[in-house]
Amino acid sequence: MATAAVVGLIFAGCAGSGHSTTHRPAGDDVDRRAMDHRFTSPEAFASEWNSAARNQWQKPEEIVAALGLSPGATAADLGAGTGYLIEFLRAAVGPEGRVLALDVEPAMIQFLDERKSDGGWDNVEVRQSAHDDPGLGSATVDAVVTLNTWHHIAGRTAFARKIHAGLSDDGGRFVVVDFIAEPTPGRGPPMEMRLAPDVVIAELEAAGFSATVAEETLPRHYIIVATRSSGGDTASKP
Ligand SMILES: C[S@@+](CC[C@H](N)C(=O)[O-])C[C@H]1O[C@@H](n2cnc3c(N)ncnc32)[C@H](O)[C@@H]1O
Repeated sequence: MATAAVVGLIFAGCAGSGHSTTHRPAGDDVDRRAMDHRFTSPEAFASEWNSAARNQWQKPEEIVAALGLSPGATAADLGAGTGYLIEFLRAAVGPEGRVLALDVEPAMIQFLDERKSDGGWDNVEVRQSAHDDPGLGSATVDAVVTLNTWHHIAGRTAFARKIHAGLSDDGGRFVVVDFIAEPTPGRGPPMEMRLAPDVVIAELEAAGFSATVAEETLPRHYIIVATRSSGGDTASKP
């Protein structure tokens, strides 16, 4: 199999495409397959996911800029996977800041723990989170990013409410970066798993955020910046 095809399958996370539905309904009535997909082999993904070549098209500096981080801030990476974004987040928050690497998958957590034990990640906390809860509690982080992961989460509006509650201040940001809802040959999830930006924005606004599509130059992704606003904390709602 050609390298590009391998990379495509890896970033698809799920092989096969089936029918194409680019505009799924907003809210919580999502396909449970999003939640069912597992990433149990970090070693198989790491060389591609963590490669320097990825920076050319993933443009992590634009993703991190969208978070509006200051030195000393606490940032969480939801669905951290093999830790691609962690170094970029560490650079943005500096040695006084903190980075949370969250993932549901035990194999990913083990992989991240091993990276941490290799040294240099003193201000990184690796934490297993739940499928339906980022586990941030109340007002604990300044910003949250999720890269290539939002489409894997079921019950997204309820989940986003918990992220809203986890942000410590009004103005705190939740940044969603995901594949566009158009074919991106060789990379990305099957069309039926993709979420159009307007769908994501509706989910985030239903959770109490103000959300907009950011300007960016990523060839296959959109960046949505959701900002915590007063009165939008609806975590206790069903
Ligand atoms: C396609 S990978 C992306 C990994 C990384 N963000 C990247 O772009 O390299 C999706 C990751 O999200 C994790 N994941 C899926 N559902 C999740 C959830 N509800 N909460 C946290 N992580 C989740 C998976 O275990 C997997 O590691």
